[in-house]
Amino acid sequence: MTTRNVLKTGLLAVALLVAALATTLSVYAGEGRPIATVTIPPAPELFASTPPPLTVTQCGQCHPGVFAGLKDEGGRHRFDCQKCHATFHSFSPKKMNWDGIMPKCSSCHAEPHGKGITDCASCHVNPHTPKKVAMETRLLNACPQCHVSPKEQLVKFPSKHSQLACQTCHTIHGYKPNCISCHTKPHHGGEVVGLCTSCHQVHKPRQITYGKDASAATCGSCHGKVYATWQNSPSKHAKVNCAACHHLKHGYVPQCTECHAAPHKKEFLSRYPRCLTCHLDPHNPPAKQVK
Ligand code: HEC
Ligand code: HEC
Ligand code: HEC
Ligand code: HEC
Ligand code: HEC
Ligand code: HEC
Ligand code: HEC
Ligand code: HEC
Ligand code: HEC
Ligand code: HEC
Ligand code: HEC
Ligand code: HEC
Repeated sequence: MTTRNVLKTGLLAVALLVAALATTLSVYAGEGRPIATVTIPPAPELFASTPPPLTVTQCGQCHPGVFAGLKDEGGRHRFDCQKCHATFHSFSPKKMNWDGIMPKCSSCHAEPHGKGITDCASCHVNPHTPKKVAMETRLLNACPQCHVSPKEQLVKFPSKHSQLACQTCHTIHGYKPNCISCHTKPHHGGEVVGLCTSCHQVHKPRQITYGKDASAATCGSCHGKVYATWQNSPSKHAKVNCAACHHLKHGYVPQCTECHAAPHKKEFLSRYPRCLTCHLDPHNPPAKQVK
């Protein structure tokens, strides 16, 4: 090859290179060839403001069940969803990240029932209705862990109630039944004035105590004879309530001197120490006749 030919070929190569480069550059500049297959004019005004966070009502539009739960039975959990759900709409079945994104009780509650109880969701099944705790095995086995004294009383003071399970009476957690739903005619059908619980504590119903104003008629429903004697007595004792004398607890019998400190001269009483030798019946003392 001559030098001239070599020069010619070189020039040609450079020319080709420049041409190729130019074509490439023109493509990168977008000249002629479109970058999308459709034409949509840009609308930046649509993005002028940042969207406000979703309101609770808006969450509720898509999650009506959750919303209704909180509305009706959410109790003190009726605050903004996002106070609990810091992360949401990011569950991915591929990542299996449900537990990771769901709120944790422990981020807001310490250990409200003590160290022994940590499996919150086994009783508080639905965080959107936190107080609805079903009477299921987990709860039934745990009553005395949280309520020490009812169990203690039922064991320490045996009665027929001690033979009943807690849930026989407490059919729903927190529900307190009425005595007369089971005892339709207590006291052998006699008159009962006043609250049952003013005399009976339900977890130790045989340990009967009452105030000095307990109704005499109620005593009379079982002690009919004494009641009749007392009621018909002309004595001032007929104005003294049964429970004022028989106070402290059922069956207590008072000393006359609790109320009559020194009714007679000392010499007199040392000869006749028993008041009832002369006054006969506390429910109808015939003081005037003894005279
Ligand atoms: C006190 C905290 C708390 C509040 C307030 C709360 N959530 Fe939840 N939410 C949870 C927890 C905890 C779970 C996980 C339950 C589970 O894993 O089964 C959950 C689960 C969910 C789920 C998925 C399971 C289901 O029940 O459908 C949805 C959806 C949901 N919440 C929506 C909401 C919405 C909407 C609001 C407000 C209207 C809200 N949450 C308020 C704690 C809360
Ligand atoms: C436009 C409808 C819509 C709105 C509004 C909406 N969600 Fe959802 N959300 C869904 C759908 C759909 C799912 C997935 C299916 C399902 O679990 O119901 C979902 C799932 C969830 C879940 C469970 C799965 C996950 O990835 O977290 C939570 C928690 C949740 N939403 C909370 C909320 C909260 C809180 C709000 C309000 C701040 C809200 N959502 C607003 C439609 C919506
Ligand atoms: C974002 C914080 C937060 C999370 C998470 C949370 N709670 Fe609460 N919870 C509260 C607050 C606040 C109260 C009200 C406390 C008060 O009024 O003293 C409350 C009250 C409660 C109550 C009483 C409700 C009432 O109406 O009296 C229960 C039960 C409860 N939470 C259980 C749970 C359980 C179970 C979880 C987990 C599934 C949970 N909470 C998760 C904040 C939270
Ligand atoms: C064995 C069942 C059980 C477990 C487990 C359990 N709770 Fe409770 N919790 C209850 C019951 C029952 C109540 C009383 C509800 C009511 O007031 O009717 C309650 C009440 C509460 C209250 C309200 C307390 C108050 O004085 O008003 C909070 C808060 C609470 N639980 C949080 C939790 C948290 C957090 C966990 C897990 C660490 C948890 N619970 C585990 C049964 C349980
Ligand atoms: C995890 C703890 C926990 C367990 C387990 C539990 N309770 Fe409760 N219970 C509570 C709390 C908290 C309250 C509400 C606060 C209060 O009044 O003491 C409550 C309230 C009650 C009340 C109403 C109290 C009142 O004075 O009005 C009754 C009745 C009751 N519980 C019975 C039961 C019975 C029966 C069981 C077993 C089936 C049980 N509880 C299991 C924590 C518990
Ligand atoms: C769910 C039913 C139920 C409820 C509610 C109930 N009891 Fe009873 N109670 C019984 C049964 C059953 C017996 C045993 C009756 C029998 O053997 O004749 C009993 C026995 C008694 C006894 C006798 C105890 C003994 O050992 O001799 C007294 C007193 C009593 N109940 C008082 C009450 C009072 C007061 C209330 C309310 C505070 C009440 N009960 C609520 C079912 C109930
Ligand atoms: C014979 C029915 C009966 C049985 C059995 C019974 N309760 Fe009760 N309980 C009641 C009634 C009725 C009240 C309401 C008493 C009142 O108003 O003074 C009550 C009150 C309560 C209260 C609230 C007041 C308090 O004394 O603290 C708790 C908590 C409770 N019961 C727990 C229990 C537990 C736990 C058991 C089982 C170990 C149990 N009860 C067994 C009938 C019963
Ligand atoms: C003034 C106190 C007082 C009041 C109020 C009272 N009781 Fe009694 N109750 C007693 C006494 C005292 C006994 C006898 C206990 C004994 O046999 O040692 C008794 C016994 C009982 C008995 C077991 C014997 C029987 O008759 O079946 C039941 C059940 C009973 N009461 C239920 C009730 C109920 C239900 C109420 C409310 C409607 C109530 N009591 C109100 C004092 C009272
Ligand atoms: C439901 C039936 C019933 C009612 C109501 C009742 N009692 Fe009794 N009471 C008895 C029985 C049965 C005995 C005997 C068994 C015993 O000692 O527990 C008794 C014993 C007594 C005794 C002791 C007698 C002795 O010999 O030691 C006195 C005092 C007494 N009751 C007073 C009262 C008073 C006061 C009231 C009302 C506040 C009352 N009772 C209500 C059934 C009742
Ligand atoms: C002023 C005090 C006083 C009053 C009021 C009173 N008691 Fe008594 N009661 C006594 C004394 C004291 C005895 C013991 C008598 C004895 O030792 O023989 C007694 C004995 C009893 C006994 C056992 C012996 C018997 O007579 O059966 C019963 C039951 C009784 N009282 C019931 C009642 C009832 C019911 C009432 C009301 C209707 C009542 N008491 C009012 C002081 C009183
Ligand atoms: C709980 C207190 C109490 C007890 C216990 C008590 N009494 Fe009385 N007694 C009274 C009162 C109050 C009167 C009326 C006083 C007045 O009005 O001056 C009274 C009056 C009397 C009278 C006069 C009756 C009349 O109608 O004039 C005699 C007698 C008497 N008591 C004897 C006794 C004897 C005996 C005992 C023991 C068996 C006894 N008392 C126990 C409170 C009591
Ligand atoms: C030997 C018989 C006798 C004995 C024992 C006796 N009393 Fe009397 N008591 C009488 C007589 C009689 C009267 C009526 C005299 C009068 O009105 O002063 C009377 C009157 C009373 C009165 C009424 C006083 C008034 O002002 O109306 C009281 C109260 C009384 N006695 C309490 C007692 C007490 C308490 C005892 C036991 C510590 C007792 N008596 C023992 C015979 C007795």
